[in-house]
Amino acid sequence: MKNTLFNLPAALAVAGVLLAAPAWPAAAQDAATLERLAKEAHAKFKDDTGGKNADYIPALAKVPSGLFGLTIVTVDGKIINVGDVNTPFSMQSCSKVFTACLVMQESGAQTLFEKVNVEPTGEAFNSIRAIEEGDGRADNPFVNPGAIATVSLVKAKNAQERWDKIIGFYNKFAGEKLTVLEDIYTSEAETNFRNRGIAHVLFNSGNLHCEPLEATDVYTKQCSVGVTCKQLAVMGGTLANHGINPVTKERVIDAKHVPKILSVMTMAGFYDGSGAWAWNAGLPAKTGVGGGIVAVVPGKMAIVGFAPPLDQFGNSVRAQKAIQFIAEQLDLSIFGSAK
Ligand code: DON
Repeated sequence: MKNTLFNLPAALAVAGVLLAAPAWPAAAQDAATLERLAKEAHAKFKDDTGGKNADYIPALAKVPSGLFGLTIVTVDGKIINVGDVNTPFSMQSCSKVFTACLVMQESGAQTLFEKVNVEPTGEAFNSIRAIEEGDGRADNPFVNPGAIATVSLVKAKNAQERWDKIIGFYNKFAGEKLTVLEDIYTSEAETNFRNRGIAHVLFNSGNLHCEPLEATDVYTKQCSVGVTCKQLAVMGGTLANHGINPVTKERVIDAKHVPKILSVMTMAGFYDGSGAWAWNAGLPAKTGVGGGIVAVVPGKMAIVGFAPPLDQFGNSVRAQKAIQFIAEQLDLSIFGSAK
């Protein structure tokens, strides 16, 4: 939706429910319950053949479609793994959350708010029309234009420094050293003409803050970072835990930035499927065309699903069904109890 008058109440409502989060249901803290539900969700959806791998990045079309993993990481460091949790997949747009966090941490949340914007678009993630219909800014840090603009806001003298800062920050979120999946990076770098175009459109209107091809290439690299379900769930768990990594116990991002990024995840994490996701699952989450979804239950846990086939909006079919199932069973919606 482009109309900011429409979106302001939504933003306030999200902030309100985050502050007034209901008491934590006792059952949900129990690792055995989480494991039972994760296994149930996996069994329920593992044979779902809906959706199709992304193929506009040729290497993604070759990832086995049957892969399906689920991980839950709680804020007190419990880790529940079910299915294909050891196969690294490319973060793709899940990465956008963490670079936006880096810019907030480095330059303040207001920089992201003013220079990138935080409005849902109601358009596809790679829409050029969305930039043109707005004020020349990118709309939000999760659509490709906003993510490329966000990369350009990382303070760096050159591409190497920009990259080193981004991967270094991701490593703190994951509590492990992450690496780029080279086959995915090469495949995307060879075919990312649309993103290069987007970067130039933004640069032309003064809304990109480094050289366009540098921003696009570093962005492409961050999308190609490989994570397992567990690594991505620890990253999400850091947001659930108000910015402190639940495994390493290191503070990664100031607590004051966390509700801000979660508000954008709630309104724009699924692009033009964000309304249905908020309705069905009621959780801040971010998807990637690699098949990953990271959902955050503030103060409680992160739930990650990975399965390559995507719906028409670019969101993993099985991962969203599984996370939604767990959220419903545990009554986790940030908008309040359904029971
Ligand atoms: O730039 C792209 O198109 C991809 N690297 C990322 C897009 C993406 O993951 C959209 N999310 N569902």
